[in-house]
Amino acid sequence: MKTLVLVFAACGLASAGAPEGKATFAAKCAPCHGPNGEGRPAIAKMFGVEMHPLSSQYVQSKPDAEIKQIIANGKGKMKPVAGLAEKQVEDVIAYVRTLKE
Ligand code: HEC
Repeated sequence: MKTLVLVFAACGLASAGAPEGKATFAAKCAPCHGPNGEGRPAIAKMFGVEMHPLSSQYVQSKPDAEIKQIIANGKGKMKPVAGLAEKQVEDVIAYVRTLKE
C-alpha cells in the first residue's frame, strides 16, 4: 500500500499590492485605459481627449497622491472611480507603477 502525502506550501499573502492591483486595474481601469494602460482609442475618441499611456513619463512623474486624487475625484473627462477601498487604490497605483516604460 502506498501512502502519498501531499504537502501544500502555503504561499504567504503578498502585502505589497501590485498583484492585487492588477485585478482591480483589469476590472476598474482597463475598460477605458486598456489592459496595459495604453488607452483605448475608442474611449479617447468618445471623450474627445488624448489619453496619456499610463506607462508614460507624463503619468509616471505624478506622485502617488496625485494619482490617488485622479482616481477619487476624476480628472477632466475621467469620472471618479467608485467602489474602491483605500487599500485597492494603493494596490492599483502599485500596479500602475509596474507599467512604467
Ligand atoms: C470611464 C473611463 C475611465 C475609467 C474607468 C478610468 N479612467 Fe482614467 N482617464 C480616463 C480619461 C478619458 C482620461 C483623460 C482625462 C482628460 O484628460 O480629460 C483619464 C485620465 C487618467 C489619468 C491621467 C492621465 C491623463 O491622460 O491625463 C490617470 C493617472 C488615470 N486616468 C488613471 C486611472 C486609473 C488608475 C483608473 C482605475 C482605478 C482609471 N483611470 C479609470 C478614463 C477612464
